[in-house]
Amino acid sequence: MIPEEIIQYLKSNATFVSGQKLSQHLKISRAAVWKYVHELRASGYRIEAVPHRGYRLKFVPDKLLPWEIRAGLATRVLGHEVFCYDTLPSTMDEAFRLAEGNQCREGALVCAESQTRGRGRMGRTWFSPKGKGIYASLVLKPFLAPSEVSWITFVAAIAVCEGIRQTTGLAAAIKWPNDVLIKRKKVAGILTEMNAEVDRVHFVVVGLGLNVNIDKDHLPPQATSLRMELGGKVSRVLFLQAVLKQMEHWYDCLQERRLTPVLERWKELSVTLGRRIRISDYHKAIEGKAVDLSDDGGLIVLNSDGDLLKKMTGDVEFLD
Ligand code: BTN
Repeated sequence: MIPEEIIQYLKSNATFVSGQKLSQHLKISRAAVWKYVHELRASGYRIEAVPHRGYRLKFVPDKLLPWEIRAGLATRVLGHEVFCYDTLPSTMDEAFRLAEGNQCREGALVCAESQTRGRGRMGRTWFSPKGKGIYASLVLKPFLAPSEVSWITFVAAIAVCEGIRQTTGLAAAIKWPNDVLIKRKKVAGILTEMNAEVDRVHFVVVGLGLNVNIDKDHLPPQATSLRMELGGKVSRVLFLQAVLKQMEHWYDCLQERRLTPVLERWKELSVTLGRRIRISDYHKAIEGKAVDLSDDGGLIVLNSDGDLLKKMTGDVEFLD
């Protein structure tokens, strides 16, 4: 892709690069170079142009652009194919459309700067203001039975926690089944949807909604963002790359059926186990102590009658 090549070339040269050099390198005319430079400026790059000297890159915007995500991405598969949009109703729908039409490979990533109908679990909406968060969906084709797909949510939650810990040092933790919290406030959510037959998964789409640079005034009191916790902006590109790297590591474990390390890491990062909770789903709420995670992703709750109950869905509220 020409814009990608221009940026790479300018990044690898701290000083000016002449229009002639760029046009030779890219095998396009100097007028075409100029046209692409204009386009790149329109998407937020600051590129200085000085007569007789050429072009110099002065500023790289923190935008989710395919070549920025791919540059320095340390994964084998995840995020190598990237589809970026300014706005979408939901990245989930676009990922489904691409996967259903066989128009993308395993590991394809769909992201948008904003979503108009971002969705969360249990029919909720996901607030997706422009340029402030990461709204992304990954297409996966795992060797899992439909009943095992909740493992994908677990590896995604681990990956998001590890990504946050690595890039910011903040102690992110998991609330079953799919929330990532910092100091008890939600910073990220994961939505796993699949296209499957009763006994065969065609593909899974994992949606990641991450509150990166959203400020306090725009979030409900029970939510937070990395910026709020750190008191400064976080690079969405670097953070997304860290999450993808972690996701690939844990997803590989799953594909190789090394489930014990996944379960152990999930438990280490969990703030749910050992706590008194109320868990509510569409039908009813139960209270008890969260004691374990079952192999199929259920939460095991010990109620006051001493019964062990397994819940597969629901919203957890901490009672202590
Ligand atoms: C939740 O906590 O309920 C899950 C939220 C998942 C939100 C993400 S944002 C990217 C992707 N597109 C969507 O419409 N939803 C997911």
